[in-house]
Amino acid sequence: MKPREVRPGVYWVGAIDWDRRLFDSLIPLPDGTSYNSYLVRGSEKTALIDTVDPTMEEVLINHLNQLDVGNLDYVVANHAEQDHAGTIPRVLEKYPQAKVVCTPKCKGMLIDLLLVPEERFIAVEDKETISLGHRTLEFIHAPWVHWPETMLTYLREDRILFPCDFFGSHLATTDLYVTDEGQVYEAAKRYYAEIMMPFRTTIQKNLEKVRDCAIDIIAPSHGPMHDKPDFIMKAYHSWAFDEPKNIVVLPYISMHGSTRKMVEYLVEALAQRGVTVKQFDLAVTDIGKLAMSLVDAATVVIGTPTVLAGPHPNVAYAAFLANALRPNLKFASIIGSYSWGGRTVEQLTGMMPNLKVELMDPVLSKGFPKEADFKALDSLANTIAQKHKEHHFPQ
Ligand code: FEO
Repeated sequence: MKPREVRPGVYWVGAIDWDRRLFDSLIPLPDGTSYNSYLVRGSEKTALIDTVDPTMEEVLINHLNQLDVGNLDYVVANHAEQDHAGTIPRVLEKYPQAKVVCTPKCKGMLIDLLLVPEERFIAVEDKETISLGHRTLEFIHAPWVHWPETMLTYLREDRILFPCDFFGSHLATTDLYVTDEGQVYEAAKRYYAEIMMPFRTTIQKNLEKVRDCAIDIIAPSHGPMHDKPDFIMKAYHSWAFDEPKNIVVLPYISMHGSTRKMVEYLVEALAQRGVTVKQFDLAVTDIGKLAMSLVDAATVVIGTPTVLAGPHPNVAYAAFLANALRPNLKFASIIGSYSWGGRTVEQLTGMMPNLKVELMDPVLSKGFPKEADFKALDSLANTIAQKHKEHHFPQ
């Protein structure tokens, strides 16, 4: 892929990673990703906005060579994470006069993470600007999109916002701009769920902060650019501000079928009562899909057998993750089976202190579920449907 012109003098110079399938050794990337870097030429100075993952540094360097970038004045680091900052040392080596522009906190992180020498930095405060001549870069501090040091860069004259991870999507595509909104919505929601959801209230503030910018293009550092910014702004607004929906998420594990029988029964009982259910077998599910479902859900019901006196390890992992992602859930419960005892409920609830939920009575069956267990599941379904109705959670 060659450099792509966004505006005269503004270029996409990033790298597309079609084959990457895991991020942070944790997050599934079913559709690959991209590391978008942008070159901005002013009448006097030239700036590079973010770099690329160090595994693809040659791609960025080739792009800069193809554009005959002999002189680079600034490397803007919106974010210190290595998928955007990892090629900064190589760029600084190539352009010895270039300075790294970032927040004071990002400066410290780049010194720690990438050993960038202290004299190579210009630390900028919120709303500070740098003139490139006939173009101006404005820096907007926006912590927690995705780390505490993050900022956004606004190219005033062209009304382009470079928000790095914010508004991004893990999606490898040759399209410079969004073409398939359905596909990008899904990828961006997955990204929000995995990266932004834990900081929902800060995201709300950052959305308010960019509301005053006149924006023609949002140019994130993952996925295609948005030339219709309203689409992604509205999506983010809904994920960050809306109340949960009439949805139950039901992640579970079953070893010999008892817990599965209970899960199937409860799913049917909830569906009969007009509640939408999203069921995930944790032995095979894409954990990103589970995270996405938690963005909108009002209730989580966790299904687990008792193993070695506690929840199944896959269920413990999912509970730990849900706790870390801090979704806007209102209710929770636990169902499952055991053979001789254990402390499954205490252990699982103890793993989710961040979830500010009302815990509904768990239903645990001794062995394969029997009539009394199914009655208890009916009662749980009644309670959930009633609570959702009382709160007017929309469909
Ligand atoms: Fe795409 Fe937080 O890095």
